[in-house]
Amino acid sequence: MKFFVDTAEVDQIAELNDLGMVDGVTTNPSLIMKSGRDILEVTKEIADMVEGPVSAEVVALEADAMIAEGRKLAKIADNIAVKVPLTWDGLKACKVLSGEGNMVNVTLCFSANQALLAAKAGATFISPFIGRLDDINLDGMELISDIRQIYDNYGFETQILAASIRSVNHAYLAAMIGSDVMTAPPKVIKQMAEHPLTDKGLESFMADWAKTGQKIL
Ligand code: G3P
Repeated sequence: MKFFVDTAEVDQIAELNDLGMVDGVTTNPSLIMKSGRDILEVTKEIADMVEGPVSAEVVALEADAMIAEGRKLAKIADNIAVKVPLTWDGLKACKVLSGEGNMVNVTLCFSANQALLAAKAGATFISPFIGRLDDINLDGMELISDIRQIYDNYGFETQILAASIRSVNHAYLAAMIGSDVMTAPPKVIKQMAEHPLTDKGLESFMADWAKTGQKIL
């Protein structure tokens, strides 16, 4: 499973990128707001840093305006994926922008039928929001599983990008189901390294090592 980092915080992306953990980056209007940066500037900086796709989201609601914004965002760098919302206008914009050779990430997906439409409109990525479904007592993972089955049934090449990942368990389940990509906040990716038995084991090794009185360096 590819790892995209869900943030516009350049320092945090750089830390994970240096470790080879970053296959791409996703941003959205809320993450740009949190960064306090100009969208064009910060997106360029991120796209220059990472090799993989960097999603930058349009904010227009009508198809022609989304297409115009998408074309401008796509010009920032070759690795930009234009992000459009899963509305009828967003699907129209997806069709046009993907037809022009751009990567398109269709976001705010909450049903398998929406994902089917996005694939037919030529989406490169579909972004089902797991955490936000869980927030309203629905099963975000069931949605990932349904989309996986539908895409496999018909050989759609649209990649499933599990989004709104809030926990290490979300990450684990998305990988088990066969999501192509997950996008997660840096904090969740770092938490994946943690295990209480690792901490406990290390503590006991350190205590025994101290008793030997030895040094390696
Ligand atoms: O990738 C979409 C993500 O930014 C939404 O996450 O936690 O705001 O639902 P969240």
